[in-house]
Amino acid sequence: MENQQDFQYTRQISQQYPQDKRFLLAILQDIQKEYNYLPRESLYMVQEYMDIPLAKLYSMATFYKALSLKPKGRYIIKVCDGTACHIRASQTLTDEISKILKIAPGQTTSDGRFSLETVNCLGSCAAAPVIVVNDRFYGKVTPSMVKTIIDEYGGIYS
Ligand code: FES
Repeated sequence: MENQQDFQYTRQISQQYPQDKRFLLAILQDIQKEYNYLPRESLYMVQEYMDIPLAKLYSMATFYKALSLKPKGRYIIKVCDGTACHIRASQTLTDEISKILKIAPGQTTSDGRFSLETVNCLGSCAAAPVIVVNDRFYGKVTPSMVKTIIDEYGGIYS
């Protein structure tokens, strides 16, 4: 759990940008990248720095899928559910991951290691169905490959 000193990163991130609302999203994205979510303390700091209502920050945090108010896992598994992947049974991949990790899409494992998300087209339809773990891409994935992929990230502790 972060302590107050950790939130100095938020101050540094914010101060890298001009106090102009056009940079709000960039600031929030940088904070998201640093903490893997938007801690409440960080939102207070941004509110103060940009002199804007806290409600505006919360509405952005809920509007943009790349932002999260809840802590996410160290490894974020994104299953593409765009049309090409959907036709090639991406739902079976989501089901298999859910079964192995015991979480539904949008959830994070209790040990904070894995989050599961479904996303729209990742722009690699020729390799459908596609999943991405953090920045690593996997194409033409079958349900039988899912456990091997999860094992690459340490698997599940049982
Ligand atoms: S629909 Fe999945 S990569 Fe395009």
